[in-house]
Amino acid sequence: MTIGIGLLGLGTVGAGVAGILATPSGRHPLVAELDLRRVAVRDLARPRPVELAAELLTTNPEAVIDDPAVDIVVEVMGGLEPARSLILRAIAAGKPVVTANKAVIARYGEEIAAAAAKQGVYVLIEAAVGGGIPIIEPLKQSLGANRIQRVSGIINGTTNYILSRMAAEGAAYSDVLAEAQSLGYAEADPAADVQGGDAADKIAILAGLAYGGSVPRAAIPTEGIDRLEARDVAYAAQLGYVVKLLAVAQAMPSAEAPTSAQTEQLLDVRVHPTLLPKAHPLAGVNGVNNAILVEGDPVGQVMFYGPGAGAGPTASAVVADILNIAGIRQATAGSAKPPLDPLLAAGSWRACRLVDSAETTHRNYVRLRTSDEAGVIGKIGTCFGEAGVSIQSIVQFETQSAGDAEIVVITHDVCEANFRQALAAIEALAGVHTIAACLRTL
Ligand code: NAP
Ligand code: HSE
Repeated sequence: MTIGIGLLGLGTVGAGVAGILATPSGRHPLVAELDLRRVAVRDLARPRPVELAAELLTTNPEAVIDDPAVDIVVEVMGGLEPARSLILRAIAAGKPVVTANKAVIARYGEEIAAAAAKQGVYVLIEAAVGGGIPIIEPLKQSLGANRIQRVSGIINGTTNYILSRMAAEGAAYSDVLAEAQSLGYAEADPAADVQGGDAADKIAILAGLAYGGSVPRAAIPTEGIDRLEARDVAYAAQLGYVVKLLAVAQAMPSAEAPTSAQTEQLLDVRVHPTLLPKAHPLAGVNGVNNAILVEGDPVGQVMFYGPGAGAGPTASAVVADILNIAGIRQATAGSAKPPLDPLLAAGSWRACRLVDSAETTHRNYVRLRTSDEAGVIGKIGTCFGEAGVSIQSIVQFETQSAGDAEIVVITHDVCEANFRQALAAIEALAGVHTIAACLRTL
């Protein structure tokens, strides 16, 4: 029994999916049962890396969903609208959906999951986080017994590619971004990558799965690499660190007893460039690769690693989801509705709330531009001390301009509110020109 696939989008990921469907030899036997029946694009005349019969293509995505020959809808067009409405339309038509669209899932995941549960259809999203890395199903299923303490990772391939090249070759940011775009790693608007929004979408999804409740996407503190200076990458290297764009979701102690499944979960969720000690397990993750470290009780630490973006890896995850649905359809042929994804059926079981970031504690890296004169370091140290911020190291670097100094401070774990209080006092010091950079440190 062949299964009709309707593709919304034939760009980087869509072409990767079409390429796999067109070459089933040597893959799982079910791939040969998948038949690409309609494909929506914006521009019919655009050259494509896969050869498809012209009559498959349409500029009307709704026609793909409504086509009775289409059994599974694959949304790989990106953007919020019309992607969200098209996913809901497919669900309303009783058609399972596979999507790689983290922007939609991070914002409308609850609405989509509720519609899917009501209609009794699957919506699978493995490709939305980590490209080719299996992380969604492991979090949903394989690690379900754990109390998850923290999910942290490098979950944007474009920025990791840029940072790796900057660290290894001192490459210029704009050149490397253009390369990441040409390799198909970047979003249609790469601001989502470099400003951290894509990683924030992904950590919202991972946190939602890990902690069993919807995470308010708009409230996630997000900082990208677009203002990161090459000199901070170089200074970090001299001090024994690498800089990575890290996304973190961490359980915080709650006032309520942690025994009830319905307890509100307080979370610290954030995205920011971070100095990692060179020995940290995430520090050696380079290029387009992503890695996600899950820490849970009782499992301990589990790390997922692999290519985080690009046509092949992402299509691998999309087709795996299609195969899961196709396999269930074949196994349950004749029944009115397929069985629900068991965890989706259980619905949201916890409310997640983000902690006020002023209450969180972190280590920090601060670079200050100052006058090169006696007493400046002492006054900076006093400001930190008076705010209760303990310093791990303070180093002065040479600068090009005579009479000036660059001072880099690394703090111990300190409360964010105290740290901000110290920075305000330092900024007001006569010998301090500017706080040039401020990064988190592990
Ligand atoms: P892309 O290369 O920009 O492709 C988008 C495709 O959708 C194009 O074929 C485009 O048509 C089509 N399209 C867009 N809007 C449309 C509309 N209104 N009607 C009909 N067709 C429309 O994007 P991509 O890199 O493949 O990414 C697709 C999705 O996968 C996004 O949600 C992205 O976040 C996600 N994703 C991407 C990667 C990656 O490595 N690239 C990895 C994981 C997830 P034309 O070709 O005619 O313009
Ligand atoms: N633009 C995204 C990235 C694609 O670079 O990670 C994969 O989700």
